[in-house]
Amino acid sequence: MTGASAAGDEAEQGLRLVVRDDVASLIFDRPDSKVNLLTSATMRSLDATLGELEAAHAANAVQALVVRSAKQDNFIAGADINELAELSDAESATRISSLGQDIFGRLERLPFPTLAAIDGSCLGGGLELALACDYRVASNNSKTRLGLPETRLGILPGLGGTVRLPRLIGLRRALELILAGKQIRVQPALKMGLVDAVLPADRFDSEVDSLAADLARGAKPLSRRKRSFWARLLEESAPSRWLVRRISLKSVYARTKGHYPALPKAVKVTVRGVGQSPARAYAEEASAFGQLAVTPESRNLINVFLLTEGARKRRPSAEPRAIERAAVIGAGVMGAGIAELFAYQALPVLVVDIDEERVRAGIHRARELLDKAGERAGWSPETLEERKQCLKGATKYDSFSSIDAVVEAAIERMDVKREVFAALEAEMPSTSLIASNTSALSISKLQSDLEHPDRVCGIHFFNPPHVMPLVEIVRGKQTSDATLATAFELALHLGKTPIIVHDSPGFVVNRILAAYLTEAGHLLQEGMEVRSIDEVMKAFGMPMGPLRLLDEIGLDVIAMVSQTLEVDLGERFKPAPVMAKILATGVTGKKGGRGFYVYEDGRRSGLNEEISAVLRQAASGSAPPRPPLAPAKDVAQTRMIFGMINEAARTLDDQVVAGPEDIDVAMIMGAGFPPFLGGLLRYADSLGLDKITRRLRQLAERYGPRFEPAPGLLQRSAFFSPQK
Ligand code: NAI
Repeated sequence: MTGASAAGDEAEQGLRLVVRDDVASLIFDRPDSKVNLLTSATMRSLDATLGELEAAHAANAVQALVVRSAKQDNFIAGADINELAELSDAESATRISSLGQDIFGRLERLPFPTLAAIDGSCLGGGLELALACDYRVASNNSKTRLGLPETRLGILPGLGGTVRLPRLIGLRRALELILAGKQIRVQPALKMGLVDAVLPADRFDSEVDSLAADLARGAKPLSRRKRSFWARLLEESAPSRWLVRRISLKSVYARTKGHYPALPKAVKVTVRGVGQSPARAYAEEASAFGQLAVTPESRNLINVFLLTEGARKRRPSAEPRAIERAAVIGAGVMGAGIAELFAYQALPVLVVDIDEERVRAGIHRARELLDKAGERAGWSPETLEERKQCLKGATKYDSFSSIDAVVEAAIERMDVKREVFAALEAEMPSTSLIASNTSALSISKLQSDLEHPDRVCGIHFFNPPHVMPLVEIVRGKQTSDATLATAFELALHLGKTPIIVHDSPGFVVNRILAAYLTEAGHLLQEGMEVRSIDEVMKAFGMPMGPLRLLDEIGLDVIAMVSQTLEVDLGERFKPAPVMAKILATGVTGKKGGRGFYVYEDGRRSGLNEEISAVLRQAASGSAPPRPPLAPAKDVAQTRMIFGMINEAARTLDDQVVAGPEDIDVAMIMGAGFPPFLGGLLRYADSLGLDKITRRLRQLAERYGPRFEPAPGLLQRSAFFSPQK
């Protein structure tokens, strides 16, 4: 056996070359990191190592190469996003892409077989590197995922991915992967030909070694199913390419309304690349990468990525307590969803409600959610059953002495929650966590009567809990740092992004959303049509309009939240009079089948004529006798958006959160604010706070004091310090 290590500082750059017999292993192992990244230093080091490999082959010392990772559950996570954020102009971004393409080209041209051994996540540039190898094998480790998420950052794969992928798996499949940016598991990857074999995770290294030894002696141990001539002709002939391009562009536009320029660009570059020489196609890819990397959309999406990462790292300094057994009180809409999150992570969870029937229904719902989650995660039937067994039910608290954490999601009533908290305190050890999922009740009040109030906080999930990535961790007056740290860690463990908020009406998301939804009510009052209000905000980039959102949340729920906010924060949250008339018809929104829209089996089937009639009546009943002139669309949009910005400034003034980053993360992840705009307050900065203040003053004169600029808006010149 011979062993050799690469010279120079390659190990520092996270690369190691080990040669054993005549097989070389290029091992990615980024120092002090759980994942491997393709930084520019790593790429330079890779280039140098490829030179060594060429020389070693010339000296007859290397006949095959395996690219592998020393990290657990990670092959290569992709490019270094911090470096992407620093790209200053299109030319240098294009140059960086071309340089990377050249290095991967050198890998592709090595005069001996190359094999990427993928065990763990293989994303972005990591997958593009694997595509430059002759073969790819993946482990059946449940953490192994492959994907090209670049378009989610407003760019496209710039290291040859748009060129090699369609040549390997076909144009339509390649576009699906590139445009959705999603991560796929190994079996679908095998089926589409993205990997050549799936190997058992527990024998992965030895099986890879044996494949590499075969390759080194000239055998062909991996057979790839060739795409048939007809499949290639069907996809790659000029008319087919034209058709695929047209259909893809249309569907991208329908989905994104032109807000994400990376998507149409990725369609055009990928489709054109199929009909071009690779050299020409790489040049176009690099040029498109350069152009996209400096668009405002890409800057914003990258910034949102970094903001989110930052939020997850802002851990409270205290030591969190371990959680081995949990409970959820209230097995309704939220309780069942939260229980599923625990079981998904294999944490035993006791589900409690007032009677057995409700407990059963909640557990049934949680099990259904696990079925779907298990399917997405590719669990075996045994794993699925094991997770389902984590869900147990109860109607009493007599077994709570061993529970480490409770999330209370009973109905939104102070008296009920207080009673539940008192009962919990009587049974649970004094240090176990008691958290409420309340939407608007005061955590400080909830904890005030308890003997150990320090272990109480809010953990506010959003609906539906298995989908929405945000949780607000609410610090009450007496909440201890250790409680906060435990709740934060628990939220991370459940796969959520936590932000810490002070106990304050509506916390962050509901407070700012309420300002937005209240304004939508005023627009209705003034005669603007339901569909127009919703369309105006969808055109802005919101995933759904405000009235549709009201239907989703529940009109009754919002009425209660508005009432609390009006009492606690002031008149600006007073709903438009027409909202009371709408509520009086008894509609509750989607859950009752009728709101501004009608729903059949949970799907929207059209406008609710009953509400339209109420609105017409409200309009004709108002003076002057002719229907009032509906507000212009641009004014309507400004009123709704600036209302949110103004309320966000007040939320900062009240020190509900540590800084504007938290508001931006919260509004994107909890309310669907469009990520391509970078976040509510970053968007405000892009408009200029002077301009916003001037416009708010005009709106206040015309529509009333709810638009008076918040003191914090007048004092600041920007929410964030100026960007580089
Ligand atoms: P829900 O009405 O669907 O469920 C509440 C459950 O609590 C019911 O099953 C009820 O039987 C049970 N319950 C009532 N009294 C109880 C008691 N003394 N002990 C144990 N269980 C009891 O309500 P939902 O929507 O799940 O809301 C629950 C909590 O989550 C509320 O505090 C709500 O404000 C909050 N929340 C709701 C959101 C939503 O969109 N629905 C979003 C975020 C928070």
